[in-house]
Amino acid sequence: MSAPRLLDKFSGPQKARKELLATGGDPTNVILERILSPTEAIIDGRKTLLAGTNNYLGLTLYPECIAAGQKALADFGTGTTGSRMASGSYTLHGALEAELAEFYGLAHGLVFSTGYAANLGTLAALCGAGDNIMLDADAHASLYDGCQLTGAEIFRFRHNDANDLDKRLRRLGERCGRTLVVVEGIYSMLGDRAPLADIVAVKDRHGALLMVDEAHSLGVLGEHGRGQVEADGVLSQADFIVGTFSKSLGATGGFCVSNHAELTLFRYTSRPFIFTAAPCPSVVATTRAALHCLRTRPQLRERLWENARRLYAAIKSIGYTVGPEVSPVVAIRVTAREQALALWHAAMEQGVYTNLVLPPTTPDGGSLLRCSVSAAHSPRQIDRISEVFAGLSGLVHG
Ligand SMILES: Cc1ncc(COP(=O)(O)O)c(C=O)c1O
Repeated sequence: MSAPRLLDKFSGPQKARKELLATGGDPTNVILERILSPTEAIIDGRKTLLAGTNNYLGLTLYPECIAAGQKALADFGTGTTGSRMASGSYTLHGALEAELAEFYGLAHGLVFSTGYAANLGTLAALCGAGDNIMLDADAHASLYDGCQLTGAEIFRFRHNDANDLDKRLRRLGERCGRTLVVVEGIYSMLGDRAPLADIVAVKDRHGALLMVDEAHSLGVLGEHGRGQVEADGVLSQADFIVGTFSKSLGATGGFCVSNHAELTLFRYTSRPFIFTAAPCPSVVATTRAALHCLRTRPQLRERLWENARRLYAAIKSIGYTVGPEVSPVVAIRVTAREQALALWHAAMEQGVYTNLVLPPTTPDGGSLLRCSVSAAHSPRQIDRISEVFAGLSGLVHG
C-alpha cells in the first residue's frame, strides 16, 4: 500500500460530482447566461424564472443603484487595491459606516468586504482563548467558521430554544461574563425567525453579550426594515448586529453595528477586517444607494411579504412540507436526496430555478428546495412557481 497523498481527499468530491452530473446536470454550478430582470434570466439558453436568489427587494437593477455605481467607477476607479489599514479608506467607506449606524440608531458601524468576513471578523475580534460562544445549532457556516477562528470554547444550543440556552448559560456560571451568544434573525434554510425577545432576556439575566446576524432579515423585517431586532423590539439590547449587502441590498460586503465603543477597535484587532482589500468604491456606492431605497420605499417590503404569503400558502396547500412560518424563504422539505434532485431538475426543465440544498447543509439531515421570494416578483410569477410545483408533487408524494 502506498502512503496517502495530499490530493487523495478529492476522490470523495470527485465521486459526488460524477453522481450529480449523472442526474442530468450539476445543480451546484448553474450558469446564468443573461440577466433579464431581477426575477428572470437565460439559463441553458432558456428564459427561466428565478425563485432562488436572495434579491429580496429586487434592487439589483434599480437605475439609481446602477447610476451610483457607474459614477463611483468613474470617480474612484475599479478597485481599492489594498486593505484599509495599509492603503487607506475612501470617503465612501466612512460615509456608508455612518449611514448604517444612523439607520440603526447606534453609535458605531464598520464595513467588511463580505458578509462572510463580517461574521468572521466580528467573532474573531470579540472572542479568543478562555472565552465562550453559545451558538444556535442551525447557524450559518460563516458563523461556525468564525467560531473556529476564535479559539474560544464553543457550545451549541438547540435551535431557537431560549430555555436550552438558559440551561447552558446557567451551567457556565461565572464564565457567562466571558460569553457571546450568537444567533440569526431569519434562518437561511427554513426561513424561521429567532425568538429574540426571549433570547435577549436570557442573555441579560446571565450577563452574556449577544451577536445577531441579520443577513436575511435586513430590509425584510421590522417597521423600518432594521431586521428581527426591530421586529422584536430589542434593537438596543442586541450588542452586535451584523449583516450583509449581498441580499436585500443587491451588492456585496458586510457590516457590524453596535453601541459598544469597542467596535471602533476592531480596525486594529480583527484579522478578517485588516488582511483583505477594502470593498470596491462602485460596490460601496451601489450599497449606499440601495440602503437609501430600502429606507425610503417601505412598499418594497410590503410587496415582498404579499409575495411571501402567497407562495408559502400555495406550496403548503399542495401538500409539500414547508418551513415553520411564513417567510420570504420558502423551503420545500424532502426526505430523500434523490427525490429532491429529481424535483429540482424537473422544476428547472419547466423554467423555474430554486436552490437545491442537500445534506449536510440542511438543518435536519433531509434535503430541500429553497425558494426565495422577491418584491420584484409579480403575482403572476408567484403563481407560476406554485403551478410548476403543483404539477410536480407526484415526484415527492406519488
Ligand atoms: C446567515 C448568513 N450569514 C452570512 C452570510 C454570508 O454573506 P455573504 O454571502 O454576503 O458573504 C450568508 C450568506 O449566505 C448567510 O446566509
